[in-house]
Amino acid sequence: MPSKLTLRFYVFPNAAALADAAAKYFITRIPEPDSTAVARIAISGGTTPKAMLRDLGSEAYVRYTHRWENLHLYWVDERCVPPDDAQSNYHMTEEALLAWVPLPPENVHRMEGELEPAVAAARYESELRNSFRLEGAEVPSFDLLLLGMGPDGHTASLFPHTEALDAMVELVVANHVPKLDAWRITLTWPVINQAKEVVFLIEGAEKADILHEVLFGPRDPERLPSQLIKPASGTLVFLLDEAAAARIPREGAQQHGPIWSNVIEVER
Ligand code: 6PG
Repeated sequence: MPSKLTLRFYVFPNAAALADAAAKYFITRIPEPDSTAVARIAISGGTTPKAMLRDLGSEAYVRYTHRWENLHLYWVDERCVPPDDAQSNYHMTEEALLAWVPLPPENVHRMEGELEPAVAAARYESELRNSFRLEGAEVPSFDLLLLGMGPDGHTASLFPHTEALDAMVELVVANHVPKLDAWRITLTWPVINQAKEVVFLIEGAEKADILHEVLFGPRDPERLPSQLIKPASGTLVFLLDEAAAARIPREGAQQHGPIWSNVIEVER
């Protein structure tokens, strides 16, 4: 049954401005040092988040170092490779962020890509149940969940026409991706949709057409898995550079200096 989904777009002039804005978005979601609250944030891999993570780990954010105690970091997905492999999302995050900030090791919830895929998925599911203190069929609700979008419309490791698209009971699954001839570990889309805030971080001209097709084209989630992302909150946030936003409607947009924003309601 389709229902309304609010799409919030924030468009930045270039990739550097996008990364800085995304880092600010991220850091403001971490509770103040005197708070007893924690933020449970899940990040994606790939290349787009790298610049944001580097900004987070840079001097500019050193004043926030005291906040790191209040952050628990998770991954949306992982490649089935060792943590020191150049393909590892954890390795990318370690180089860009973890090596530079005092995040307590117990606050880093790594997907163990070095294990047999089904074992890694089962162990991460247990990690989620334990760290979120879930009972029964409860689903974890991340405070913030950052997604990317592939040129084929995949997100997380939910690739077109793969088995993970049908996983609705599990929290985490191993997913074989034939076109990559590789295994991945991924959160399932029902878990992603339970996050309090779901943000797509997308940059580059090569993503403009697929983003437009996912958002405004015919519904075909088997072919365009990013269409499965419909947060229970009813809102989906997009942090984009101008190039990726080339086909996002600007009617009714607001301009804030070099940045523009727009809100569009769709039936999803
Ligand atoms: C991964 C990511 C994946 C990524 C998209 C976009 O493990 O690769 O989780 O879903 O977000 O493929 O990747 P880029 O940012 O490299 O374009």
